Amino acid sequence: MNATITRVFPFLLVVLGIYLWIGYSITELTGGGRRTSAAVDVSPEGGEAIYWGKGRCFTCHSVGGQGSAVRGPNHGQFGEKFPLPMGARAAERAKERSEKEGKDFTAVDYLVESLASPGAYVVNGYKNEMAVVYAPPISLSLKEIKAIVAYLMSLGGDLDMPAIDTTPAELTQAFYSKIAAAAEAGGGDPSAGAIVYEDNCSECHTLAEEGGEVGPALDGISAKGLKFISEAILQPTKIQTKGFETYVAVDKDGRQTIGLKTRDEGGEVDITKANGDVITIAKGDIKDIKIDDTKSVMPDDLSEAMTVKDYQDILSFLMLQKPKAAE
Ligand code: HEC
Ligand code: HEC
Repeated sequence: MNATITRVFPFLLVVLGIYLWIGYSITELTGGGRRTSAAVDVSPEGGEAIYWGKGRCFTCHSVGGQGSAVRGPNHGQFGEKFPLPMGARAAERAKERSEKEGKDFTAVDYLVESLASPGAYVVNGYKNEMAVVYAPPISLSLKEIKAIVAYLMSLGGDLDMPAIDTTPAELTQAFYSKIAAAAEAGGGDPSAGAIVYEDNCSECHTLAEEGGEVGPALDGISAKGLKFISEAILQPTKIQTKGFETYVAVDKDGRQTIGLKTRDEGGEVDITKANGDVITIAKGDIKDIKIDDTKSVMPDDLSEAMTVKDYQDILSFLMLQKPKAAE
C-alpha cells in the first residue's frame, strides 16, 4: 500500500506540474489572462473591431485612407496600386488560382489561407513577413479569425456568411482545422515548431519517412493527445513506446551497452545506442540482457534546451500531425 503511494504520488505531482506549466506558459505568452472570445461576434462589425484592435492588423495594413501602415498591402481601394478593395481582390486572386490549379478556390479560401498559411501566397512586391495571427503574441481564436474574414469580404466582396462560418468549403475547413489545432496546443506557431523539430528531434524520429529511425515514427501522433505528447517530451522514461524499450546488455567482461534491441537473430544481437551507433554483440558473450524501464533512449533533458515558446511551438506542430483519414 505504502509502496503504491510512494510510486503514484510523484507521478501525480509531475502530471499536475505539467498542467500548471502549460497553463502558466500560455498566460505568459499571451501577455496575461487570455481574453475570452465569447464576446466576439462573427460579423463584419465584430471583425472590424478586431482588425483595428486585438488583431493588430493595422500595424502593417491600412484600409483605403484609414490608417497609415504600409508594410503590408492596403486592404481598401487605394490609388493605382490597389484598384480593388480586399473583398473583390480576394475574388480575383481566387479566380486566378482556380484557373492555374484547375480546382475550385474561393475568395473565402484565399482570405483564410492568407491568415492560416501566410507564406503560401506572397503578394507581389511584399516580403513574406505577414504575422501568424493565431500564434502569440496576437493569438486570435478561430471565431475572431472568421469575424475578420467577414470584415474583409464586406470590403467590396460578396459577403456569404455561411461560407465563412457554418458551412465552409473543404479548403477553408482544412485551414480552420489547422488554426484550431494550433489554438488547442496553446496557440503555438506550428511553422516555428517545424524548425524546433528539425533541430531537436528529426535525428531520431521520422515524419513522412524522413529523419532518423532510432525512435518511433511520429506520423499521426496527434491522435495520442496533447498530454501524452508533452509527457513524452518532458518525461521520456514514463512512456516506453512498444517495440522501443530500452535494453541493457552486460557482456562477460561486465561492459554495459544501453539502447534499443534492433536485431536479434542467429547468434547475435544489435543494440542501437542513442547516438545511432549500432553495437553487435555475440549472444555467447552476453552475461545478461534485460529491459530497463527506468531508462529511455530518448534524452530527458530536451526541454531544457528549449524556450517555453519553442516548447509551445513544437506541441502545436506535433498536434498537426493528424492520422491519415481512412480511404
Ligand atoms: C507584421 C506585419 C503584418 C501584420 C501584423 C499583419 N499583416 Fe497581413 N500582410 C503583411 C504583409 C507584408 C503582406 C504581404 C505579403 C504576403 O502576402 O504574405 C500581408 C498580406 C495580407 C493579406 C493578402 C493581401 C492581398 O492583397 O492579397 C491579407 C488578406 C492580410 N495580410 C490580412 C491580415 C490581417 C487580417 C491581419 C490582422 C489579423 C494582418 N494581415 C496582420 C503584413 C502583416
Ligand atoms: C536520441 C534519440 C531521440 C531524440 C533526439 C528524440 N527522441 Fe523521441 N523517442 C526516442 C525513442 C527511442 C522513443 C521510444 C522510447 C520512449 O518512448 O521513451 C521516443 C519516443 C517519443 C514519443 C512517443 C511516441 C509514441 O508513439 O509513443 C514522442 C511523442 C517523441 N519521442 C517526441 C520527440 C520530440 C518532440 C523530440 C524532440 C524535441 C524527440 N522525441 C527527440 C528517441 C529520441
